[in-house]
Amino acid sequence: MRRKTVIDLQNMKAANEKIAMITAYDATMARLVDSAGVDMVLVGDSLGMVIQGAEDTLSVTLDDMIYHGRCVARGLKSAHLTVDMPFMSYQVSAEQALTSAGRLVQEGRAQSVKLEGGQRSAPAIEKIVAAGIPVMGHIGLTPQSVNTLGGWRVQGRTDDAAAQLMTDALAVQDAGAFSVVLEMVPTELAAEVSAALNIPTIGIGAGPDCDGQVLVCNDLLGLDMSFSPKFLRRFAELEKPITGAFSEYIAAVRDGSFPAQAHCFHRSNPTKKVTRLY
Ligand code: KIV
Repeated sequence: MRRKTVIDLQNMKAANEKIAMITAYDATMARLVDSAGVDMVLVGDSLGMVIQGAEDTLSVTLDDMIYHGRCVARGLKSAHLTVDMPFMSYQVSAEQALTSAGRLVQEGRAQSVKLEGGQRSAPAIEKIVAAGIPVMGHIGLTPQSVNTLGGWRVQGRTDDAAAQLMTDALAVQDAGAFSVVLEMVPTELAAEVSAALNIPTIGIGAGPDCDGQVLVCNDLLGLDMSFSPKFLRRFAELEKPITGAFSEYIAAVRDGSFPAQAHCFHRSNPTKKVTRLY
């Protein structure tokens, strides 16, 4: 079995096959999503919220992404691995972007990297791609700009904003990106962008006409039932069964029913009294 490449993913768009992408942050979840047959795994900087408990992605560091990238890579057999470039790891200059992307590949075992921004990020994309590292763009709601955007809002609703989003999508493609995430974009606009681009669009909150979809693994599994944005479909509701299992374990420890005999190890000569060695 071999890992999917950016060429495989681009061929999927050409063949009109939808691309399924899921985030993962550790080797266990990577193994599970990979064995389910997902096409792409994203180590998203959403790990700021999902793993680190922060309120946004801004405090995630390049070293954090490298660490989680390496963990996830160990769990994959066939899925393509994209790792997010975190805030301030590519905004300073194209040179800084290339250095950071290089670390994500060398140390984080990424097959490609993802960065946010359209026209403004084109020089960084060009520089990284020229060094042989595939880049995925990310436009629409770009969480690293949450303080500028004024919150987690749908982007591209007005005519001007829609025109800017189309311009950004084309700029990302022209800079050499192999694919682009469209986050929180009106369905009709995402459809137009997907039709205009040769590279696959991967939507989250961008309707069914994107070339693929991405969801955060914890959201898709329903690990936090208090998080319910409009775009989310939970394919399982695991928060309750998981806390239920933990509660049963705690009760079993407290009432002494765990461990039972079946979980115990025994000496070969259990009746002989143990004597000290020295
Ligand atoms: O960080 C992330 O998980 C992402 C996806 C939601 C696209 O960027």
